Amino acid sequence: MDNDPLWYKDAVIYELHVKAFFDSSSDGIGDFAGLIQKLDYLQDLGINCIWLLPFYPSPLKDDGYDISDFRGILPDYGTMKDFRRFVREAHRRNIRVLIELVMNHTSDQHPWFQDARASKKSRKRKFYVWTDDPKKKYQDARVIFLDAEKSNWAYDPESKQYYWHRFYSLQPDLNYDNPIVCRTMLNILSFWLNTGVDGFRLDAVPYLFERDGTRCENLPETHAYLKSLRQRLDKRYKNRILLAEANQRSEDVRPYFGDGDECHLAFHFPLMPRIFMALRQENNKPIIQIMEQTPGIPPDCQWALFLRNHDELTLEMVSPEEREYMYQEYAEHPKAKLNLGIRHRLAPLLNNGRRQLELLHSILFSLPGSPVIYYGDEMGMGDNVYLGDRNGVRTPMQWTGDRNAGFSAADAAQLYAPVIVDPVYGYQSVNAEAQSRTPTSFLNWMKRFIRARKKFKAFGRGTLKFLEPKNNKILAYIRQYEGETLLIVNNLSRFVQPLELDLAGHRGWTLVEVVGGVRFPAVGELPYFLTLGPHAFYWFVLEKPAAPEQKKMPVKTPEKSEAKGNPGRGSKTGKAQASRNSGVGENTE
Ligand code: NOJ
Repeated sequence: MDNDPLWYKDAVIYELHVKAFFDSSSDGIGDFAGLIQKLDYLQDLGINCIWLLPFYPSPLKDDGYDISDFRGILPDYGTMKDFRRFVREAHRRNIRVLIELVMNHTSDQHPWFQDARASKKSRKRKFYVWTDDPKKKYQDARVIFLDAEKSNWAYDPESKQYYWHRFYSLQPDLNYDNPIVCRTMLNILSFWLNTGVDGFRLDAVPYLFERDGTRCENLPETHAYLKSLRQRLDKRYKNRILLAEANQRSEDVRPYFGDGDECHLAFHFPLMPRIFMALRQENNKPIIQIMEQTPGIPPDCQWALFLRNHDELTLEMVSPEEREYMYQEYAEHPKAKLNLGIRHRLAPLLNNGRRQLELLHSILFSLPGSPVIYYGDEMGMGDNVYLGDRNGVRTPMQWTGDRNAGFSAADAAQLYAPVIVDPVYGYQSVNAEAQSRTPTSFLNWMKRFIRARKKFKAFGRGTLKFLEPKNNKILAYIRQYEGETLLIVNNLSRFVQPLELDLAGHRGWTLVEVVGGVRFPAVGELPYFLTLGPHAFYWFVLEKPAAPEQKKMPVKTPEKSEAKGNPGRGSKTGKAQASRNSGVGENTE
């Protein structure tokens, strides 16, 4: 593995659930031994970082985010030995591993909570937050799981007090005003770092502390505690990272980076729904506006960008009108809405439109940040809204057209969730084996584009400048890093579009398309004219004109004057410019 402390800036992250990936023991549930067998697939896909959903002992009422032992492995998924072997095997393939640190709460089945509710005198009582009068305390905090909970307080009949919970009532919040809780979590962090993992996604991190008269989110005490986590990380370990899950406006997420002394990465929640809005409105505004509102971050920090994940497509960070628009456009099925969001996978959201899938990945892979791909979305897997909660987007990975989608040899009834069998997204038609064999498949397209992205540091580290052509159906920008200049042009419209780009700052430069290495005419004096097919996009490298050669002989016939305007008409593109960057990906189509 490389030793770059900024590795996360160039990461392409793949989010997966152990239970959903591959079942090696034929009990209907995926496991670490199975995941290890599938690492070659992930290496071939080109990702270089895995983010694992929770795999700890848990009653699984919130799919593992309700933890009953922070230092163990759920036996269904394997043993600690299996886990360590998985980390080693991933590292052997240059793939880093992020795991979940669920600090905000435990399961109500955790021995700490069991102790706490059994006796008010127990030392564990103060691990949680209690009150006699729920109407008086922390009333300004919103309820997050709106469809399931009415209040953030739940009555405990055993100890006859109310306890605080931001998520399901079976997930009591830990009390970070108790220094023992703070210390215990630091030790749990070290415990997992010692297994060799490369970092943590910090689940539900805005809610660690509560204070009356506030929304109980993003409090200064929470930031102070996160800084102590970071110190522990930096003092004793190398190249490990923290990724904040703070579903907040970007100005409220900004403090999670601190002065480069808190989290390395944070998800960009507000951008995600705006990508979907821009697509349906065929207008670049939602994306440009949100990116322009995004504050700058310290140089060693990075946004984590995503289109979908294991939760509902959250609409907490848009206005009520925008939310209504998103529901109208993307939540047609009566069961699609959940809490303040939409429980569909990416392909069904886009009506399985191949061009839309590619376009959204073009945007995901080329805006500033590290992209996160949700397992199965690399081949356009479907969902099942009838499964309840968010389970419809967590069904078994579709490997082949064989029984149980090649995920497990158990009886179908034994699977932790049914595989997708509908005529459009069913495993007989959507599976990794079939798509691997088809050069034109979406899976192979993803491989090519992940490779293309990894060729250029500018994608992960470069500056961003929007070009804003008159045609606002076009989202165009320049990414620049050290010697690399990339031009990205996306057509958000379902119709063919013409456009003119002001590339005056790059007159004489040649555009080389990144995947095919095709050279376009050099930039002339007039605006650069392009046309794009429906939902099409281009990724170009801009190549500087070569310095003029020293001529030994006097030139008899003077060169024709450079044509003004339309590129291609006589612009100088001398052979000396032969592409350094062209042909980055073999086009297998
Ligand atoms: C955020 C996670 O993404 C979600 O799946 C979970 O239910 C909550 N945090 C509570 O842990």
